[in-house]
Amino acid sequence: MGEPNGALIAGESTFVWMDRIGAIEGPDDGYGLEDHLDEALAQGADLFQFVVYDLPNRDCAALASNGELRIANGGFERYKNEYIKGISDVISQQKYQGIRIVAVIEVDSLPNLVTNLDEADCQEANGPGGYRDGIQYALNELAKIPNVYSYVDIAHSGWLGWPNNFSPAVALIAKVVKSTDKGWQSIAGFASNSANYTPVQEPYLPNPDLQVGGQPVRSASIYEWNAYFEELRFVQDWRAAMISEHGAPSSIGMLIDTGRNGWGGPDRPTGQSTSSDLNTFVNESRIDRRVHRGNWCNQAGGVGYRPQAAPASGVDAYVWIKPQGESDGISDPNFALDPNDPAKQHDPMCDPNKYNVDNGAVGTGALDDAPHAGRWFPEAFKILVDNAYPPL
Ligand code: BGC
Repeated sequence: MGEPNGALIAGESTFVWMDRIGAIEGPDDGYGLEDHLDEALAQGADLFQFVVYDLPNRDCAALASNGELRIANGGFERYKNEYIKGISDVISQQKYQGIRIVAVIEVDSLPNLVTNLDEADCQEANGPGGYRDGIQYALNELAKIPNVYSYVDIAHSGWLGWPNNFSPAVALIAKVVKSTDKGWQSIAGFASNSANYTPVQEPYLPNPDLQVGGQPVRSASIYEWNAYFEELRFVQDWRAAMISEHGAPSSIGMLIDTGRNGWGGPDRPTGQSTSSDLNTFVNESRIDRRVHRGNWCNQAGGVGYRPQAAPASGVDAYVWIKPQGESDGISDPNFALDPNDPAKQHDPMCDPNKYNVDNGAVGTGALDDAPHAGRWFPEAFKILVDNAYPPL
């Protein structure tokens, strides 16, 4: 609200991130989980949304959001006995019974076990006391609270969209859900695009197999043969695969984080390109303006669809999971530690002067002068609001 133009979005709901054990109690001068819920009660709200985000070896394939718990250091015990217990003790109180509590479970975690097992931290997270055990435990505990609706994170289409990633990811995540005490009954569904920038739709590229210059659009450099350019078809196909291949009930629904994937502003295309050169055609048509779809840190996106229920078939809601104006990671390689979160590091993907880790031909696209992940980044907030689509 205090930020210029903050009032334009201050009335919309975002998620509260429980990103360390200390966040449950909260800082002396800020809100903890109970304060947030009491505020919801005071406002007469019927919905509260938060992110469960403190697995041991958190953010195993990157550095910006490394967490306080380590598997080798008894992290799983602390996750259970201090973190999940702390959360459950607060949210299970009778006074909150009338509030629907939505929990997004552990952003990027299980997807890292699909594609990043070449990283030692992820390998360890794939074993005992790691991500699978942690999520199973979290779901078991949250499922004991009748007014909690858990949605397990599934990354986004620009990460898991290739068939070689999609099917193993669906299988792995289904297995973890089915390993819980209540099986499919322990979740309400899945959440995609958490803290990412992938658009809900690519309105001018509806057909990934369209031929341009003798090649399908999905073979363009930016798509690298990934046929999912957008979250909507990705989450609908994900849901369908869970139902048809893994026995999920048709009641499961999907969430899409639309906080930063609007891609409006002056550079937004207004129609399909007429170029016969494939890459020119795609680059002039796509609304996702990133130079690489793997660029995840502090991109100059725009606020997307406002939070809304049942916006499309199979989708429970568009939601704002990552609050606009909070950094994805610190840009300066010569950074000072964050006193609240000393495990957070500088990730090269947050350095505007570095190249994308997977493609040395393109930059990271990250904004400069960014503070540590989760810290307030006013320049980013302004860009997101200015480039909102639909406009604010
Ligand atoms: C950070 C968290 C923060 C969250 C939301 C994550 O990248 O690691 O500390 O709460 O983003 O801004």
